Amino acid sequence: MKRLQHFFSNKPVARVLDVGCGAGDFIKLLDGIFEGKARLTGIDPGEEWLKEARVRFPQEHIDFVRMSGEQLDFEDNTFEVVTLSNALHHLENIEQTFNEMKRVVKPGGWLLINEISDGELNPAQENQRMLHHFKSFVDRLHGITHRPTRTPDEILDIVDQNKLEVVDSFLYLKMKMVNREELFLEDKYRQMESLLEELQGRPEFDQTKDQLPLFRERLASHGFQTAPQLMVIAKPRQ
Ligand SMILES: C[S@@+](CC[C@H](N)C(=O)[O-])C[C@H]1O[C@@H](n2cnc3c(N)ncnc32)[C@H](O)[C@@H]1O
Repeated sequence: MKRLQHFFSNKPVARVLDVGCGAGDFIKLLDGIFEGKARLTGIDPGEEWLKEARVRFPQEHIDFVRMSGEQLDFEDNTFEVVTLSNALHHLENIEQTFNEMKRVVKPGGWLLINEISDGELNPAQENQRMLHHFKSFVDRLHGITHRPTRTPDEILDIVDQNKLEVVDSFLYLKMKMVNREELFLEDKYRQMESLLEELQGRPEFDQTKDQLPLFRERLASHGFQTAPQLMVIAKPRQ
């Protein structure tokens, strides 16, 4: 992530907060960008995610706390950088979460919003979207907030509506190539299959079961690739 590293290369950053850190994938990227010199705090309401993150990142300058982005237990103006990665489409109350992120960022600090995008996708990326949208559909049936992904313009609209000024934004591929390996594709198929199994006994099972053979066919024809992600560097609007 050279562009992000370059952006922060001449900016002193002592503390970073990652909202919705999950198992810490974005923490890993942040630690690389700040070269292990910034204190990183990941927060997430999911204790299972945090347990995994603490095992993956035992370093002293990284800590993980159970918390919701809607109510951050930090003083105003605490962090130079506050981030939200692939969590926007999981948030129940987007406005409240952004208000909290703006409250805890220092004056002159930055918000980073990284979000998987929808829109113009190749057939392999459409396969990732198909699996993701099915997962979000099943989560919603279980009462979990999980929205479909949004286009880059829709993401930028949300950033704007929440009174953030975009300093830079760019699309990038986390998975550079289409993956066609048999074992990898089989794993994706199994993920879809086990999601469908969760619907057994519900009317939604019959309504969606045709997606499984279709997904297998599509995987065989096009492979699988993660959709482009949009990185937005923003500042609270004055
Ligand atoms: C797809 S994961 C993203 C994990 C990580 N940030 C990454 O980029 O890989 C979405 C995360 O958002 C978290 N989340 C959902 N609602 C949240 C909230 N109100 N505040 C903070 N995190 C939340 C979920 O628990 C989940 O760990």
